[in-house]
Amino acid sequence: MSRVLFVTSEAYPLVKTGGLADVSASLPAALRALGHDVRVLLPAYPLTQAPASHHAARFSVGRYAVDLWQTTLPDTGVPLWLMACPELFDRPGNPYLDAHGVDWPDNATRFDLLCRVAARIALRQAGLDWQPELVHANDWQAGLTPVHLANQPYRPPVVFTVHNLAYQGIFDRPTFDALGLAPALWHPDRLEYYGRFSFLKAGLVYGDWLTTVSPGYAREICAPEGGMGLDGVLRARSDRLEGILNGIDTRVWSPEDDPYLPAQYSARHPGDKRRCRYDLAEALGFGHSDAPMAGFIGRLVAQKGIDWLIEALPAIIQRGVRVVVLGDGEARYTEPLRQLAAEHPRQLAVILGYHEPWAHRVTAGSDLLLMPSRYEPCGLNQLYAMRYGTVPVVHGVGGLADTVRDPDRSDPATANGFVFTEATSAALLTTLDRALVWFQRPSDWRRLRYNGMTGDYSWTMRARAYDTVYRQALADRPRPGNTHPEAIAAGS
Ligand code: ADP
Ligand code: GLC
Repeated sequence: MSRVLFVTSEAYPLVKTGGLADVSASLPAALRALGHDVRVLLPAYPLTQAPASHHAARFSVGRYAVDLWQTTLPDTGVPLWLMACPELFDRPGNPYLDAHGVDWPDNATRFDLLCRVAARIALRQAGLDWQPELVHANDWQAGLTPVHLANQPYRPPVVFTVHNLAYQGIFDRPTFDALGLAPALWHPDRLEYYGRFSFLKAGLVYGDWLTTVSPGYAREICAPEGGMGLDGVLRARSDRLEGILNGIDTRVWSPEDDPYLPAQYSARHPGDKRRCRYDLAEALGFGHSDAPMAGFIGRLVAQKGIDWLIEALPAIIQRGVRVVVLGDGEARYTEPLRQLAAEHPRQLAVILGYHEPWAHRVTAGSDLLLMPSRYEPCGLNQLYAMRYGTVPVVHGVGGLADTVRDPDRSDPATANGFVFTEATSAALLTTLDRALVWFQRPSDWRRLRYNGMTGDYSWTMRARAYDTVYRQALADRPRPGNTHPEAIAAGS
C-alpha cells in the first residue's frame, strides 16, 4: 500500500464550493480504508470549523513564508496539512472569488504556491518526516504540481484528476514570467494555450496518469464538442486517461441517519419520506398538497442548464408541480427566478445562497430532482437524490448518463430515473411529463424509488479503480534517466 499526497483546493466540511470538496474528503477516506497512507494538502483559508492542529513545518518558497499545520479532516481521520500563507489565503469568502464574485487577481500566484509546496513535500524538502510515493493532484489549482517535479530524477509519479474541464486556470504571459516558469515551457506542446497559458493544460501534459470522474466524461472530453479546446491534448494522452465514477460519503448522505431531516427513512421503510416532504412544503409556504415536488440544487451557472429550467418553469407550474430551487450564482439566473417565485409563491420557492441543511431537506423532501446539466463530469446530486428516494430527471451527459437508467430506454425492472438526450428546454419538459405519468402509478414509482435507494454509490468499488491507477503509475514510475520526456527545468 502506498503513501499518497492528495492535493486539493477544497475539502468538505472545511471549505466547499462544489463536488470537488465532497470528493476530496470522501475519496482519501476510502483509500485509507483500502490501506493507503493518504494525506491531504489544502490551503489554509479562514476555515470555519478548523479542528485542533499543530505546527508541522515552516519554510520559504520564493518571497513567501509558508507554515504547515497538521490536523485531520473532520469525521474521517484523514491527516491534513493546512498550508498557511496569510498574505495569499487568509481572505474572507470564496477560495477563488472576491466579495463581488470576481477572481482574486493573484489566483495564479496563490495556486502556484499550492503546487510548489506539494512538490516540496513530494521531494521531502518541506521538513516533514514523511514522503509520498505518489502525488494525486486535482483540477487546475493543482495543475502545476507535476511541472514543478518534472525535472527531478527521484520524484514520485503524479496522478492528475480533472473534475471539470471548463475551469482551466488561464493566465497571461506577464503572469507566466512573474511565476518564474522556465521560458521553454511557453510552447503549444507544453503550457502555452492560444497566446496565454493554462494550469489545467500543465496537469494534462505533465501528469503521469490522468483520470476524470466518469467514463462518459472521459470519452466526451476527447472529442471536439466536449473537449473545451483541450481535446487534442487529451486524445494524445488517451492511453493514460481513465474515467472513474465518483462515490458518495454514505455517512453524510443517508436518509436513515440524517440530522437535518424531521424524520428518518430507508429503502425498506420509505414511509417517512412523506413527512420530509410535508415539512419542506410547510417551510417553503406551499401548504399541504399531494402535488409532486421537484427540486433543483446547484451552482446557478450555464453548466447546470438552469436557463433551460427557467424557460420551462411556467409550463411546469401550470402542470401543478411544486418546484424548489436551491442555488448560488449569476444574477442573470437569480433575477428571473426571484421574479417567477414572487408570481407563484405557493408553487415556486427559490433559496439563494449556499446552505448545507437546505440541500439535505430539499433532497429528502422532493419527489423529483431536476438536473438538466449541459455537461456534467460526474454529478453528485443525482446520486444523493437516488439514495434519498428522489427520482432524478437528467440530461444524459457525462456522469449523469453513466448513473441514471430510464425505464423507457432500459429494463424498467432496474430503472432509477429519467434521461433526456436532446439539449433543449423542451426535452426537459417532455421528459418531466414522462416522469409525471410514472408518478401517477404508485407501484411503478415505488420500484423506481427503490432501485435508486438500493443502488451502490459508495466508494468501495470506485476507490479500487484509483488503487489500480496508482499501481500502474507506480509500476512505470519515473526513474533517473527516465524522467518525463518533456522534462524542463520549471524555474526557481
Ligand atoms: P458541482 O461540483 O459541479 O457543483 P456536484 O453535483 O458534483 O456539482 O456537487 C455539488 C455539491 O454542492 C453537492 O454536494 C451539492 O449538494 C452542493 N451544493 C450545490 N449548491 C448548493 C447550495 N446552494 N447549497 C448547498 N449545497 C449545494
Ligand atoms: C465538478 C463537476 C461535477 C463533479 C465534481 C466532483 O465540480 O462539475 O460533475 O461531480 O466536480 O468530481
